[in-house]
Amino acid sequence: MCGIVGYIGNKKASPILINGLLRLEYRGYDSAGIATIEENEISVMKNQGRVNSLYELEGINDLKGTIGIAHTRWATHGKPSKENSHPHQDNSNSFAVVHNGIIENYNELREFLTEKGYNFLSNTDTEVIPNLIHYYFNKDENNDENRILRAVKSACSDLIGSYAIEILSKYNKNNMIVVRKDSPLVIGKGNGENYISSDIPAILSYTKDFYLLDDNEIVKLSRNKVMFYDENLKEIQKPVKSIEWGASSAEKGEYADFMLKEIYEQPKAIRETIGAKLDNGIIEIQGLSLDREYIKSLNKIYIIACGTAMHAGLVAKTIFEKLCKIPVEVDIASEFRYRNPLIDENTLSIYITQSGETADTIAALKLAKSKKSKTIAISNVIGSSITREADYSIYTHAGPEIAVASTKAYTSQVILLAILGMYFAQKLGKTDKEIISNLKKDILQLPNQIEEVLKSSDKVKQFAKKVYKEKDMFFLGRGVDYAVSMEGSLKLKEISYIHSESYAAGELKHGPIALIENNITVIITMTNSKLVEKSISNVQEVITRGAKVLAITSEEIKNNGFEEIIKIPKTNPLISPVLSVIPMQILAYYISKEKGLDVDKPRNLAKSVTVE
Ligand code: F6R
Repeated sequence: MCGIVGYIGNKKASPILINGLLRLEYRGYDSAGIATIEENEISVMKNQGRVNSLYELEGINDLKGTIGIAHTRWATHGKPSKENSHPHQDNSNSFAVVHNGIIENYNELREFLTEKGYNFLSNTDTEVIPNLIHYYFNKDENNDENRILRAVKSACSDLIGSYAIEILSKYNKNNMIVVRKDSPLVIGKGNGENYISSDIPAILSYTKDFYLLDDNEIVKLSRNKVMFYDENLKEIQKPVKSIEWGASSAEKGEYADFMLKEIYEQPKAIRETIGAKLDNGIIEIQGLSLDREYIKSLNKIYIIACGTAMHAGLVAKTIFEKLCKIPVEVDIASEFRYRNPLIDENTLSIYITQSGETADTIAALKLAKSKKSKTIAISNVIGSSITREADYSIYTHAGPEIAVASTKAYTSQVILLAILGMYFAQKLGKTDKEIISNLKKDILQLPNQIEEVLKSSDKVKQFAKKVYKEKDMFFLGRGVDYAVSMEGSLKLKEISYIHSESYAAGELKHGPIALIENNITVIITMTNSKLVEKSISNVQEVITRGAKVLAITSEEIKNNGFEEIIKIPKTNPLISPVLSVIPMQILAYYISKEKGLDVDKPRNLAKSVTVE
């Protein structure tokens, strides 16, 4: 939930660190700080507030150090404040540390260190780390070049929880140490310099060559060398991976916000996610090889994810059940992992996660694996943590998603899942070939159809101007239109702070209709000709009670009292969320803009939820 950057080279570190933090700010933005080594002493500068608040600190531009660590915080332990911001130091100011993750046993470690005479200046879990390193460093009588490395290793073996940590020491101004466990961290390889970051896009403008770290690996960086060690400090070798994303994919370009850019990138994201998968008669998905006998043996498919990714899973449930006739259960990762789910070797489980770093989703996958389920991870980030745990990893190719509110990742996930459903169906041979080939044609048309929908954005913008001051809204739909309504409702909540609920349209009169009052806004989605009449009847019930209704539909409907109708192109109802979600994303976006909010960095949220 926090962002980490590091630099070691021959340039002044502080501008590189702050620039990296600005790009990682979507991961946390309640305080920020940097540490560099200035003439053999560690210099720490930190402030409460956004990364830009660092520029208010006197002397920040005078930092000359060419080695440094930096952090943007999303508070977990200890409220946002200068004292609680990172970097944290040990009592002797010999070590400085930035940390992303949670140290679960920090209370015990604090007690232990207090008994040994250490004091604590913050309320964070992190502050135990530099003091623990100092404690082990002092205990070690062997003053060789690996003394700091050994102290870090010993400190880490005391830590329970998740962490990505960067360590700077005044005892060695030519080295930096980093370590990760269950928290993301990558090393960018430069020429005579090396970079560290929580994610790839933040340092893409400096390098395209990366080392991806596995859990419990410790890294010692110097200007010209990166050395990797396992948890027992045995040296290991790691390959460099070149990343194909261009630096501009992590820039806003001509757009006012990343979210708007990402909404408009959806045709491209879908085209790239489809790639060559549908080019031949037989559907092939790179990274996946499941045989017919195995798919036939399945008694159930679980789809596990959080937030928007879970909403993509709800759409996939309908697709899989329709095409493969296998029961599908969709669950929220944080629930699944603690409810002893009924899984065995005949249960396939699929994990959807844009970042590939969501702690609950990764834990759910590990649980299912321990119960002998085969696991497929669907991620947008090559080499992300989940892809190193799953039996199979398949990728959406949406490009970096920077805005906290997910848009292009959702539509890409729905498409990849639809193709996955077709892959299973083709192997099973149960579904009419014509159904599959028609669905294929419909999928291939989607990018152009999204472009069509984007053209109606002005109409949605005008509607946003009418309703942005409201306190509550409702999103209704049936079948996949209900699933996509949940996503529309979440988008609105996240970035406009308007309370909203989504309901299955037929469920309204079983309670929630009591909340419908004069002038309330209701958004109804209708993309299935078999259900449209039913949905229209439900919506009449709210129009009669004074609701202002925006209809998103691919059907020819009469305007029986709708405030506005947004017409979207017709497609197979199974994949219609890829089109119907677009007006909802645009609506949330323009409401947020009308309210003058920070669209890309909504309050209290962070892009990547690497803690439980
Ligand atoms: C909402 C949103 C979140 C994420 C959720 C899972 O716009 O982005 O609900 O979908 O935190 O994140 P990933 O997909 O990275 O596992």
